[in-house]
Amino acid sequence: MATQEKTVSTSSDDSKGNGAPPLVKRRGLEGVVALDSELSDIDGQKGQLLYRGYDIRDLAENTTFEEVAHLLWKGHLPTRAELDALHEQLQAERALPATTLEMLKQVPDDANPMAVLRTIVSALAFVDDEADEMSPEANYRKALRIASRMPTILAAYDRLRKGQDPMAPLANVSTAYDFLYMLNGEEPGEAAERTFDACLVLHAEHGLNASTFTGRVIGSTLSDMYSAIPGAIGALKGPLHGGANIEVRKMLMEIDASGQSPAAYVKQKLANKERVMGFGHRVYKVLDPRATILSDMLEELSREKGEMQWYDISHEIMETMEAEKGLAANVDFFSASIYHMLGIDIDLYTPIFALSRVTGWTAHLLEQWSDNRLIRPRAEYVGPRNLTATPIDER
Ligand code: CMC
Repeated sequence: MATQEKTVSTSSDDSKGNGAPPLVKRRGLEGVVALDSELSDIDGQKGQLLYRGYDIRDLAENTTFEEVAHLLWKGHLPTRAELDALHEQLQAERALPATTLEMLKQVPDDANPMAVLRTIVSALAFVDDEADEMSPEANYRKALRIASRMPTILAAYDRLRKGQDPMAPLANVSTAYDFLYMLNGEEPGEAAERTFDACLVLHAEHGLNASTFTGRVIGSTLSDMYSAIPGAIGALKGPLHGGANIEVRKMLMEIDASGQSPAAYVKQKLANKERVMGFGHRVYKVLDPRATILSDMLEELSREKGEMQWYDISHEIMETMEAEKGLAANVDFFSASIYHMLGIDIDLYTPIFALSRVTGWTAHLLEQWSDNRLIRPRAEYVGPRNLTATPIDER
């Protein structure tokens, strides 16, 4: 009954004709419009996603992640000179301060990489003189700083936990290239860079999803970026949000190991009233356009590598979910197999989502602070009233 709407009265004065709007309850805030945004538009019926007016397929095919970051942060696609300047700024910030690297070395080898990102991004405040400076210029510089350091943090942690030395970032290469290089210790091929870059484009922004909303709620108290972004990372970690891509990969491996057909596996899950990860969406009622693009990319990658297995299993799952439940795949369903085909460890999938979405999160924070209003919904009190506190020794 998630969509059920109800007008709520409370014991407080604000619903009793003093001019305040009536309180309306919608579980999970479904269908509630909390603010205006120029960043992206989702048409859940048509299956369309626009970043600042540009269709996501157009952006995935014709722009790079850095161009999209510029679009989100600055409001327009960059000219060549603007893009060169952005590349330079991102590269200048990419290396980690020595104290941050020292901190990373203290992290246990078996930590959840999302917890690592959440903690180390928060700790970047310690090495930023502008951490609490709230001018638009300082906030933009922090957006760049955080976005450019997150790939370095993740790659460094992955190497440290494997007993390898972290790689220093390269000069004059894209975020996608540099991340794959810092992760694997070798320069990536053109196809890997292109595929990974397109994944970053596709995950960069998606309206007021749970992690972005979390970030904006924190930002709306006029707290700082180093508080808001770790909050957003924490929200993204959940399996109902970004954490779904890890669960999808686990499911594909389970199907493969079980020898069961994908259709039988899915039917069994549904019969057990379990969720099939990578399906369903709060806004899209048809196929997520990002899933369509990622499916095409997975097909190309699979053909190139001569390994169609994951693509075939995925499509059988999709057909079964459509037939049995009328549910379509979301972005996390295909990104999981693409990251696997790129040789990336499973627990890095959700952090990789974060490396991209940080551009959307920070753009939303800049937008929030340009016209701030505290975000503060209400809860309907459903507990008892008129209780009296007995002294502790008499209870
Ligand atoms: N598998 C099986 N049934 C599902 C699924 C699913 N993945 N998703 C929704 N349903 C069913 C649900 O059981 C309910 O059925 P019924 O009416 O018979 O009880 C109906 O669909 C409506 O579900 P809901 O929970 O009210 O829908 P919601 O809008 O609250 O949920 C969602 C959205 C994304 C949390 C949900 O679809 C889900 O849990 N999906 C699996 C996790 C996932 O893939 N998350 C990634 C989301 S998209 C990208 C991102 O944010 O990272």
